[in-house]
Amino acid sequence: MPITMRLLIVLLILKVTSGESREVTGYIGESATLLSGADPNRTLSTINWSIYTNNTYIATLSKGTIQLEWFGRYIGRLSLNNSSGDLTIRNLTSKDAMQYSVDLTDTKRHNSAHKIDLKVKQRLQKPTIDTASLPAAAGSCWWRLNCSSTEKVNNLFWHDETFISETHPKGSSAVLLAFLESTEMQAEFRCTSIRNRENASNVVTLKCDDKPKHRNHYMLLFFVGYLLGVFLTLCLVSIGEKSTTA
Ligand SMILES: *[C@@H]1O[C@H](CO)[C@@H](O)[C@H](O)[C@H]1NC(C)=O
Ligand SMILES: *[C@@H]1O[C@H](CO)[C@@H](O)[C@H](O)[C@H]1NC(C)=O
Ligand SMILES: *[C@@H]1O[C@H](CO)[C@@H](O)[C@H](O)[C@H]1NC(C)=O
Ligand SMILES: *[C@@H]1O[C@H](CO)[C@@H](O)[C@H](O)[C@H]1NC(C)=O
Ligand SMILES: *[C@@H]1O[C@H](CO)[C@@H](O)[C@H](O)[C@H]1NC(C)=O
Ligand SMILES: *[C@@H]1O[C@H](CO)[C@@H](O)[C@H](O)[C@H]1NC(C)=O
Ligand SMILES: *[C@@H]1O[C@H](CO)[C@@H](O)[C@H](O)[C@H]1NC(C)=O
Ligand SMILES: *[C@@H]1O[C@H](CO)[C@@H](O)[C@H](O)[C@H]1NC(C)=O
Repeated sequence: MPITMRLLIVLLILKVTSGESREVTGYIGESATLLSGADPNRTLSTINWSIYTNNTYIATLSKGTIQLEWFGRYIGRLSLNNSSGDLTIRNLTSKDAMQYSVDLTDTKRHNSAHKIDLKVKQRLQKPTIDTASLPAAAGSCWWRLNCSSTEKVNNLFWHDETFISETHPKGSSAVLLAFLESTEMQAEFRCTSIRNRENASNVVTLKCDDKPKHRNHYMLLFFVGYLLGVFLTLCLVSIGEKSTTA
């Protein structure tokens, strides 16, 4: 047999044996369930879930007792299904991404073992929207909305076409100029980012609302006026006192 052929056979065998570990994807802060792969027709008597090459236990079932407090980082985050052998890890962190091993024995003294590779990803975060008002004629308003994402996204876009004057999609930010032609009007603008098969949206609701600014303005004038009044009164009183003592 030629050497290349033997090499091919060896590679094929390697591929078949390494295909034993299955992959599971979870998301930060969410739960993931690692399937034990146990035959549902058999009743499990021991279940040992472990990590690392030294097989550090994290969850076990032995003599009808479930023990989940083996390893600090997992305490309070695990649940073990005593019939299926499946392990659920809650509130995932990126440190949980690794290979998990499960060793099973059933009541007929049959053993089986499986390996599961857990991948932990971050869900696509909502894009952020920065708003800035622009000068406009009384009773109307202009807004400049910048939608951006700190993550590498495939696309980022504004939905509502109604008020859009122009958009500048550029990499991970999209700018929209919106015009609202009356103070009663209220409009919602939604921006969506897309990464692979995930999408995330954020929304802002805008209306022409320049009254609060004016009110603040008047409050300031009022306050300055009040101080001035107090000061003048004090001056007058002290002048009056001086003239009576003289
Ligand atoms: C479990 O048992 C049922 C019937 O007893 C059988 O049809 C099924 O194939 C068995 N499942 C496995 C995984 O062996
Ligand atoms: C097993 O390995 C891990 C990481 O390599 C280590 O933190 C742990 O102390 C080891 N446990 C034992 C019992 O040796
Ligand atoms: C599995 O756990 C449930 C309670 O969570 C218990 O009622 C049941 O007896 C257990 N089964 C076995 C086979 O240990
Ligand atoms: C445990 O696993 C069995 C078999 O897969 C399932 O029917 C049962 O609902 C599970 N129990 C829990 C508490 O998830
Ligand atoms: C999830 O884990 C993080 C730290 O990893 C912690 O701050 C948070 O309180 C946990 N949330 C829950 C619901 O346990
Ligand atoms: C699980 O761990 C227990 C305690 O160390 C051990 O007695 C048992 O043989 C282990 N079972 C398997 C299937 O590895
Ligand atoms: C939009 O905001 C992002 C993040 O703050 C910034 O990097 C980008 O330059 C802004 N785009 C425009 C056109 O202002
Ligand atoms: C975002 O994802 C949801 C659910 O996967 C889907 O229904 C919706 O159409 C998607 N939106 C866009 C704009 O791709």
